[in-house]
Formats: sequence, structure tokens, C-alpha cells
Amino acid sequence: MVRKAVIPAAGFGTRFLPATKAQPKEMLPIIDTPVIQYVVQEAVDSGIEDILIISGKGKRSMEDHFDRNFELESRIVEKEEEALYNQLRHIENMANIHFIRQRELNGLGDAIYYARFHCGSEPFAVLLGDTILNSAIPVTQQIIDAYEQYGHPVIAVETVPHDKVNRYGIVGGEKLSEKVLRLTEMVEKPDIDKAPSNLAIAGRYILTPEIFPAIEQTIRGKGNEIQLTDALRIVLKQEDIVATIIEGKRYDIGNKLDFLKTTVEFALKRKEFAAPFAEYLKEIVKGL
Ligand code: G1P
Repeated sequence: MVRKAVIPAAGFGTRFLPATKAQPKEMLPIIDTPVIQYVVQEAVDSGIEDILIISGKGKRSMEDHFDRNFELESRIVEKEEEALYNQLRHIENMANIHFIRQRELNGLGDAIYYARFHCGSEPFAVLLGDTILNSAIPVTQQIIDAYEQYGHPVIAVETVPHDKVNRYGIVGGEKLSEKVLRLTEMVEKPDIDKAPSNLAIAGRYILTPEIFPAIEQTIRGKGNEIQLTDALRIVLKQEDIVATIIEGKRYDIGNKLDFLKTTVEFALKRKEFAAPFAEYLKEIVKGL
């Protein structure tokens, strides 16, 4: 059973400057909800009870967000805004959330290494803190199901255009079924002509404790960082790893254009905004 999750959220967010100069990219709101809350919700909706967020310098607002704020609550009680009050209480009670700080930004593999004592001998989910996935069945649940079926680490992947493979970890392998592969190759941000496929790692993983000694052996790779993809390649020498092609849509919040698209799409899905916002967009489009 997968009960624990790790959310790496320590990165600088340089692609989103200047907004991320003094606030974490994971706290940027899509309408009224910070990105990290969507990610935590996906974990909770997938049956996760215990979450370790890998935080870092300048990221304390994430801790405050999941903590109780009595002063604010009492104000809201006074104003008798019950729905809002319940919303706040929901955030504080989503899961057992723990924080640890990555002291130096040495890459995703290094960030995951901070979870070794927290995870102990259990399998755990990894959800990248700057990626929202929208799907009927939460993507973390999809890969937990695959883990339970195959008993090996699972990586969520999606098809990307060939000319964008150098932005992602790319996998290659043999098909076990229409949506599942047994991996033979994994490479972090390959040159376009050297990629084993156009199946990109989508920011969700189920890992086993074997990843920790593998990270210890991992030398600095792409970007001079300890890459999780490189550590997984070491795991692959000892045991099978499977990849599941996800059903759902991925939103990379660290990217400004994706952020804009996410805001528009999510607003169109919200009951209170859908009609007036669609009306507004139609007007705008007419004028283009
Ligand atoms: C990380 C991973 C990469 C993965 C990507 C998905 O890269 O290292 O394998 O494809 O997330 O968003 P980053 O975007 O942090 O450079």
C-alpha cells in the first residue's frame, strides 16, 4: 500500500521571475488556490495520508498555508461566512503534512534523498510541486494502481512533440500493454536526435526505498545537478521499472504561458466564473 508522498518544492522558480523573487512558485494561485494545494489534493484524492514537502530558502509561506490561522478563522466566524470557514479548515486537515528544507539546490535526485528517513522501508509517491494534472482518476492513483499490479517502481509518462524532448526526462522500453511499458532506457533532457522516444516523464512517480542508495551513487548530470532520472537508471540495473502513459492533462506552472492557459481553463471550469468569463473571452477573441 502506498501511504506516503514526497513533494519536491525547493526550486528557485527562475522561469517565473520576477514573481518568484520573494515568493515560491508553488504558492502562485490558479484563480484563488495555490498550485501546491492542487498537488496536495491530488495526493489526498489518491489515498495518501502522509506528505513530506521538500522546501527551501524563502518558501516558508507554504508552511503557513497548511497551518491553522486562528485569528483569520475567528474573523470569518464573526462574519458568519460558513463556506469560507469550512474551506480554511479543510486546508489545515487535508493530510499529515511535514516539511524539510533542502539546504542547497543540488537537483531533484538530491531533493528526494532528504525523504529517506521519512519514507523508511515503504514505497512512496513523488509529485512535483510545480505540476498540476487534471484527470478523471487522479494520476497518482493511476500509478499507484500500476504499482499494485506490477510490484515495481512506476513513472507517469506522456507523449510530447519530438522537438520538445530535450525539456524532459525521456523513457524507452517494451510495451506490456497499450498504456504500460517495461523500461530499458531513461535519459534526462536528451538531444532531440538522441531521444529513445517521445515519452516524457510527467512529474509523478511511485518509488521504492531502493532509490536512496542509487541516489548516493549518482554523479552530477544534466545542469550539473543530481538527477532523479540518473538515479532511476541505476535502480533499473537491479529491478524492473514500469512507465504508465497517463490519462489526463499536465499543466507546468513554472512556465508562464502554461500558467496563463491553466488559469483560463480552470476559470472556465468554475461554476461561478464559467458563463461570464466565457462571454468575456468571446468578446476579446472577436477583437483579435
Ligand atoms: C523534472 C524531471 C524531468 C521531468 C520534468 C517534468 O525536470 O527531471 O525528468 O520530465 O521534471 O516536469 P525539471 O522540469 O524540473 O527540469
